[in-house]
Amino acid sequence: MGEQIKLLKERRSIRSYDSKPIEDEILTQILETARWCMSARNKQPWTFYVIRNKDLIQRIAKECTTGPFASGAPLLIAIVGDKELSPNWYLHDTCFVSLQLALAAWSYGIGTCWIGRINRDNVKNLLNLKESDDLLTVLPLGYPKGKIPKPIPRKSLEEIVKYID
Ligand SMILES: Cc1cc2nc3c(=O)[nH]c(=O)nc-3n(C[C@H](O)[C@H](O)[C@H](O)COP(=O)(O)O)c2cc1C
Repeated sequence: MGEQIKLLKERRSIRSYDSKPIEDEILTQILETARWCMSARNKQPWTFYVIRNKDLIQRIAKECTTGPFASGAPLLIAIVGDKELSPNWYLHDTCFVSLQLALAAWSYGIGTCWIGRINRDNVKNLLNLKESDDLLTVLPLGYPKGKIPKPIPRKSLEEIVKYID
């Protein structure tokens, strides 16, 4: 399996993080890679808020209903979409960029996990975001603590592919 395919297939959601900080150069490389994500009309309607302040990490983690594990991460990246810049596509674009960022992190051995249920209004307030800002998610980033979780089974190709010849 080629390295790129391995990256795509072997990435796992990581919910437990080592306290080891993420090196600045590596963090920059992850953000730099995310920057190259595709987006509709190349609008790039995103801003990444890198949260390293310990107190703010705890306050945000409290708002992550289905991601309390965020409290154990050395940093959080809030992915914020600009609804004004790309009203029809900001959601697609920020989803894509969140994956690109997660994959870039994984390539450096750094784990993350998408968090779905967040009290978004509260986090928007904590980050002083504008009304027109969409808080897509908060990605906790950190080196995995302990073993990488076993892969969760996927649907078979038979279940998800329909050939129309
Ligand atoms: C849109 C989305 C929302 C998710 N929300 C959560 C969440 O709130 N909490 C959580 O622990 N994992 C969440 N996940 C992670 C999924 O549970 C995980 O990707 C899936 O079970 C497959 O596991 P894997 O990522 O390790 O391959 C979410 C993933 C996506 C794409």
